[in-house]
Amino acid sequence: MKQFKLTAVVIFLFFWTESLTLPTKSQDVDNFQVTQKFIEDNVGYLTIIAFAQYVQEATLEEVEVLVKKMIEFRDKCVADRTLAECAKLANDILQKSICAMEGLPQKYNFSHCCNKSDFERRLCFLYNKKADVGFLPPLPTVDFETKCHAYQQNREFFLNNYIYEFARRNPFVFSSTLLTVAAHFEEVAKTCCGEEDKASCFGTRAAPVIQNLKALSSYQKNVCGAFMRFGPKILNSIYTAVLSQKFPQIEFKEVVSLLEDISSQYNGCCEGDTVHCIQGMSNVMSHICTKQNSISSKVKECCKKTIPDRGECIIYLDKDEKPKDLPVREAKFTDSKDVCQHRDADQENFMAEFLYEYSRRHQDLSIPELLRIGEEYENLLADCCKTENPPDCYGHAEEKFNETTEKSLKMVKQECERFQNLGKDDLKYHYLVKITKMVPQLSTEELTSLSKEIVAALDMCCVQSEQFACVDNLVDLVLGELCGVNKNQTINPAVDQCCKSSFAFRRHCFEGLKADKTYVPPSTSQDLFTFHEDLCQAQNGALQRKKERFLVDLVKLKLQSKDEELHSLLTDFTNVMEQCCKTDGPESCFSEEGPKLEAKSQAASETN
Ligand SMILES: *[C@@H]1O[C@H](CO)[C@@H](O)[C@H](O)[C@H]1NC(C)=O
Ligand SMILES: *[C@@H]1O[C@H](CO)[C@@H](O)[C@H](O)[C@H]1NC(C)=O
Ligand SMILES: *[C@@H]1O[C@H](CO)[C@@H](O)[C@H](O)[C@H]1NC(C)=O
Ligand SMILES: *[C@@H]1O[C@H](CO)[C@@H](O)[C@H](O)[C@H]1NC(C)=O
Repeated sequence: MKQFKLTAVVIFLFFWTESLTLPTKSQDVDNFQVTQKFIEDNVGYLTIIAFAQYVQEATLEEVEVLVKKMIEFRDKCVADRTLAECAKLANDILQKSICAMEGLPQKYNFSHCCNKSDFERRLCFLYNKKADVGFLPPLPTVDFETKCHAYQQNREFFLNNYIYEFARRNPFVFSSTLLTVAAHFEEVAKTCCGEEDKASCFGTRAAPVIQNLKALSSYQKNVCGAFMRFGPKILNSIYTAVLSQKFPQIEFKEVVSLLEDISSQYNGCCEGDTVHCIQGMSNVMSHICTKQNSISSKVKECCKKTIPDRGECIIYLDKDEKPKDLPVREAKFTDSKDVCQHRDADQENFMAEFLYEYSRRHQDLSIPELLRIGEEYENLLADCCKTENPPDCYGHAEEKFNETTEKSLKMVKQECERFQNLGKDDLKYHYLVKITKMVPQLSTEELTSLSKEIVAALDMCCVQSEQFACVDNLVDLVLGELCGVNKNQTINPAVDQCCKSSFAFRRHCFEGLKADKTYVPPSTSQDLFTFHEDLCQAQNGALQRKKERFLVDLVKLKLQSKDEELHSLLTDFTNVMEQCCKTDGPESCFSEEGPKLEAKSQAASETN
């Protein structure tokens, strides 16, 4: 493993040259060669992914020009691996080639990146990625006959097109994930194109594939966002908790050793280096599979698979059983007399080991909750080790942990009760009001999308036995989206503070937020209360969106109003709509009722 890491971290080869340190252990050599072959075979796709993620506006035709170039480059290097240019970092070569494309940097406004070099350039391209893809045209709706015809006529073009569209719309998702998703998608196409009822086949089979892409993308964005904001330490904490909880029989030293590979993987994947990302993922999986005996017996089936399916298989594995003889508490951390001495000897390692011991014992907690406990413990020792009698002080650690967990459990319990008590629409309105009050600066689309995600999380989690972990994990992802991946959001001071103060306690921080005080509402109600006949034509989804838009705009206008008041005005709006649309002349009804509603809204404001 050691040698391997060196190549992965120091420089990353597109095509393996003989001149550099090569892995020595046979397992490593195998994995290295297999991965290298995989990368060489998939140069086209990896180029599409990188280009479409860095320059999301680029057209598929432009991307394909680069694909041709990179394939020629691969062939040159495969023919003669000693060429100097073949030893360069793949991502650098790719970015250099993007910059060399005539007129493109100006057309898509990234010439400032091309002016930079090395690390700076890579960072610049990374910052160029836009998480909010509202500027892209909606995906063309093509009927399934045409789709299948396209697939059967030209499989390569069909897949290129899908990978391109997936990549530019999910600019942070890992290349390894996109390749797996594309492969699954092809299976769906193969099956469904042979069916009579293609539409319903695609409908049922493609949905889970897209769902999987969204879920993994959301998770990866969140971890990369944390990594970029808080550095490698948070990544190590997250994965210490993840690995220990999933594989409670793993030894601590194995966790530590895996973290090195995981950190290298995330370095590549978060940066958007598609080649390094594949290599990194492959290293982590190979590491897990070669050390199966000291990690988990459950990974065996996954290890029979090849890249990139192996990775996905391991990600979706159920948690392994705890060792039978595991005591409920690890005495070393709370009961021993020498806790402070142990901590002082190697603080980082000590804290990591605590997190490991706690996580493998608490499989029902969420990852953020485990991180909260870790942070709590670190702060507790910082205080206790200064006192006269530290053991007296840290002897109460477990009570403290329980208090923190109680608080988080209570939050989730309330959220799920709300889910049970309110209908789906009212639940959505609740979160629309809550989130708009917190971040009125965001667009209506962003606000509705965030609320929708929270509602979807509750919908999925509240009925599960692992309710707490499920809700806490998923709602935290939504906050991660709000906080941003590759840029530090500047939304408003209170929200920015929650995003940057503590990754672990982010949920608690947001929970305490009140309506933003810095927001200056629009000076007039604009035409919020001017309604037209088109409202009457809106049905189902469209009608729902109109209501949501009305509510969001209303909240922006009346940020300090009570929730009940806002909900009541929404009800009035609905009533006006129903009432007027029933009449022969909706327009004249609207022009009468609109101002009344506006007056009511203003009267309500004045009583505040
Ligand atoms: C081009 O990019 C620069 C730097 O990111 C930015 O300041 C400028 O507003 C962008 N121009 C356009 C037209 O998007
Ligand atoms: C790039 O560098 C050149 C030469 O240094 C300069 O003239 C040009 O304005 C720079 N372009 C951008 C977008 O920074
Ligand atoms: C903490 O909570 C756990 C699980 O609910 C319980 O078993 C334990 O007794 C509690 N410890 C303390 C000190 O309250
Ligand atoms: C965001 O802020 C952190 C420190 O608060 C800094 O380390 C990081 O580089 C910043 N990220 C960006 C994209 O500016």
